[in-house]
Amino acid sequence: MNSLAAPDNDEPLQEPPHWLERIEIRRLAPQESGMVSALQELSLRELSVGYYSDNQIEAIIEAQNDGIKLRLSGERCYGAFHQDALLGLVCLTRLGITGLYCHPRIARQGLGRRLMTHAEQEAQRLSWYRLEVVASLTAVEFYQKLGYRPYIIQSQQTVNCANIHIPVVSLYKELPRPESTSTQAAVSSTDISIALFTWCFFVGLSVALIRR
Ligand SMILES: CC(C)(COP(=O)(O)OP(=O)(O)OC[C@H]1O[C@@H](n2cnc3c(N)ncnc32)[C@H](O)[C@@H]1OP(=O)(O)O)[C@@H](O)C(=O)NCCC(=O)NCCS
Repeated sequence: MNSLAAPDNDEPLQEPPHWLERIEIRRLAPQESGMVSALQELSLRELSVGYYSDNQIEAIIEAQNDGIKLRLSGERCYGAFHQDALLGLVCLTRLGITGLYCHPRIARQGLGRRLMTHAEQEAQRLSWYRLEVVASLTAVEFYQKLGYRPYIIQSQQTVNCANIHIPVVSLYKELPRPESTSTQAAVSSTDISIALFTWCFFVGLSVALIRR
């Protein structure tokens, strides 16, 4: 199986994708930039058709490949592997999602959602509770299905890739904070109240004793 092959041909890709259960998601390293670029390119070229012109697609590919090694070391990029094949990837920073790509052969079978769940869980683990994404038009409905909301003001804007204007939409999602965080916060505020009360009580008592 080459690095971009979809799961075995005889697996029924139209059925509920049982191969998805065997997907391994792990952090990508800068030395894997070759297969990352190849997947990004294939994904953008095939899945952006109908949303962007050929020129726009080429400009996005160029922009995405630019500094890819640096991105793989500076951002948190996770790849979804089936055996040795990279089938999708998602990149995350403190600000939000900076990249998401699926192999076109397995589009609309749940891998994008699976990668986003992984990224959101990672963000929560890092206490990053607000994720933003500058989404390509291809992916706006996808993000909305996952609970991302477009900014009310100026939801559609353009970014400049290689001097070509690319319409995009900025969206965001507030991630739930884990129960334990709010419980811990409640516990620590209770502790502070008890400590303050005890301190006031003893200071009051000392003052009363001195006056006598
Ligand atoms: C966007 C992308 C990652 C989605 O991946 P995917 O594996 O096809 O998405 P999923 O199968 O997990 O879809 C999750 C839901 O979104 C829906 N969805 C996915 N793509 C959609 C689209 N283009 N339009 C409308 N709905 C879409 C699916 O139908 C599914 O809905 P359901 O849960 O009601 O069945 C993929 O299309 C892609 O790689 N696009 C090219 C690269 C790109 O533009 N990336 C975004 C950069 S910001």
